[in-house]
Amino acid sequence: MKKLTFGALMILTVTATASAAMAQDVAAGKSSFNKCLACHAIGEGAKNKVGPELNGIDGRKSGTAPDYNYSDANKNSGITWNEALFKEYIKDPKAKIPGTKMAFAGIKNETEINNLWTFVSQFDKDGKIKQ
Ligand code: HEC
Repeated sequence: MKKLTFGALMILTVTATASAAMAQDVAAGKSSFNKCLACHAIGEGAKNKVGPELNGIDGRKSGTAPDYNYSDANKNSGITWNEALFKEYIKDPKAKIPGTKMAFAGIKNETEINNLWTFVSQFDKDGKIKQ
């Protein structure tokens, strides 16, 4: 019985720690997203700006935000955005998609990139936070 209680406590502690860490990452990613805000919106009601809205980016084909006028480079990149490709891209967008019109130098810090992905990937295509 004692053992069981301890085990249950351990699980509770680990879960609580993991979600607290997750919340911190989301908060850090949100502040990192300030670098993108001049050109991108995300979340409910997000509209295209200088760049396309980024809702549902995890699993979204490049160049497919409705009513956004992409460069051919972006449209024809053949990328379906996922964690690995996003992280590679955001380090140096012009290296990953030569000819893109996204004028952004990139983010080099791995932790910042991880947090940014945690933040952007939580939105579904309607801009709602995924459960
Ligand atoms: C100066 C404006 C600008 C900034 C700042 C900027 N972007 Fe972009 N972004 C663009 C433009 C313009 C495009 C469309 C590129 C094209 O068509 O070649 C784009 C495209 C993208 C795409 C591809 C979307 C798709 O539908 O294929 C992603 C992902 C993206 N940006 C993420 C980001 C993130 C994350 C940040 C912040 C770290 C950021 N961008 C900062 C202008 C910007």
